[in-house]
Amino acid sequence: MNLLPLHATMLLWALSPSVQNHCDKSFETSKLNLSVTYELPTFTADFPIQNMVTLDDIIYVGSVNRIYALAPNLTKLSEYRTGPLLASEACGLTRTRTGSTGRVDNHNIALVVENIYDKGLYSCGSADNGVCRRHVLDEGYSLKAVDEDVYCFADKVMPGEGHPIDPDVVVSPSGSQVLNVESNVITFFVGNSEIPNAGNISSNTTRPHTISQRKMKTSQNGFTFFSNLSYMDLIPSLQGNYYLRYVYSFHSGPFTYFLTVQQVSKDTQAYHTRIVRMCSSDLVIRRYVEMPLECISTDKRRRRSTKDVKVFNILQAAHVTKVGNDAELQRQLKVEEGEDVLFAAFAQGKPDSPEPTPNSAVCVMSLKHINNMFKMYMQRCNTIDPYHFTGSDKTSCYNVVRARRGW
Ligand SMILES: *[C@@H]1O[C@H](CO)[C@@H](O)[C@H](O)[C@H]1NC(C)=O
Ligand SMILES: *[C@@H]1O[C@H](CO)[C@@H](O)[C@H](O)[C@H]1NC(C)=O
Ligand SMILES: *[C@@H]1O[C@H](CO)[C@@H](O)[C@H](O)[C@H]1NC(C)=O
Ligand SMILES: *[C@@H]1O[C@H](CO)[C@@H](O)[C@H](O)[C@H]1NC(C)=O
Ligand SMILES: *[C@@H]1O[C@H](CO)[C@@H](O)[C@H](O)[C@H]1NC(C)=O
Repeated sequence: MNLLPLHATMLLWALSPSVQNHCDKSFETSKLNLSVTYELPTFTADFPIQNMVTLDDIIYVGSVNRIYALAPNLTKLSEYRTGPLLASEACGLTRTRTGSTGRVDNHNIALVVENIYDKGLYSCGSADNGVCRRHVLDEGYSLKAVDEDVYCFADKVMPGEGHPIDPDVVVSPSGSQVLNVESNVITFFVGNSEIPNAGNISSNTTRPHTISQRKMKTSQNGFTFFSNLSYMDLIPSLQGNYYLRYVYSFHSGPFTYFLTVQQVSKDTQAYHTRIVRMCSSDLVIRRYVEMPLECISTDKRRRRSTKDVKVFNILQAAHVTKVGNDAELQRQLKVEEGEDVLFAAFAQGKPDSPEPTPNSAVCVMSLKHINNMFKMYMQRCNTIDPYHFTGSDKTSCYNVVRARRGW
């Protein structure tokens, strides 16, 4: 393993002055005619909705026990039943847990779109032993229904049969973030949450790796790891007693990012948010960095008083998009139209808990700024090993020669 630096210093993201304790009545809002009834298209799922993606204007919805395909006007085009599932219907042989011989609800852990071989969709459920199902949607003739051509995406694994090999165990019942990075191959970057006392990962099922990158085999029947450096796991002493939740993932430029909420260290019950960055083109996890991320609001009117500084530590949701034609946002973030920015909704956590309080704030940050922070901390050698993966928290110094080339 090469360098795995984590920034010892907290980075503070000063919030833009437009975030205040009150909202100005905007001009646009006052123009709204509130007596008009708007008829918006709706879709009601039979079970709670958990994930949503689009491919060629079709909206794919992953809910408990169902995958739906919807037209742009939200009419249902097709549906695939993923549950409640019998053990004999799950991908691979389920080693039956005591007291669960009946049907179990199948939560949609991840929904991922594919573009380079065929058009396709991967749905990864909580009841499929970590395996994803591949829905072939378009082989170049016509669009297929979401339930037309579906199979367990794992070598020698069929419903109720076979033991999935390590790289084919993609998701964790505790929650996952799966990102498809397509170049001339399909690479899945996966972060699997570890929530103490939540999931029921029985000691004998294949434990999904905490963070990993896997390549789709050209035979299109599963994944492969380039080497044993293609994944990292929580060190054994932390497994089962360290909180690590992957909240969001995205790519921007040459990088793949994950946002996590986790314990600040092994010795404390305090929680914070981190941003993880990896190189999308690396075959193994080589250039991995992470640093804490916070959302801080300062009251514009009394900026000098420290009493009005509020820190929001627990990420709830995030979204990356490109800056539009918004002069004010461009000025405040010092970005140009088309650059990537991260919108992140944070809450203040309850004391020593990852649970949110009702106090929340949204921070907007440019990826350019985040990358500059990574660069600055690495060049100053101001980094420590990520203890949860290495078992070491010694200070590391980043190799600047490589930094000039690759970072
Ligand atoms: C608001 O909408 C209602 C119902 O369509 C209409 O009768 C009314 O004239 C509208 N008011 C304005 C100010 O446009
Ligand atoms: C919604 O879109 C579908 C497919 O494009 C079409 O068949 C259907 O008529 C539309 N429904 C409505 C209410 O517009
Ligand atoms: C985990 O297993 C225990 C005991 O078998 C059961 O009571 C509990 O409901 C399970 N929890 C989940 C989240 O499935
Ligand atoms: C665990 O799995 C191994 C290999 O599949 C099997 O040989 C063993 O009997 C299992 N143990 C239990 C307790 O199920
Ligand atoms: C990883 O792979 C290398 C080379 O194949 C091998 O020498 C090493 O022992 C492996 N490490 C582990 C932890 O399996």
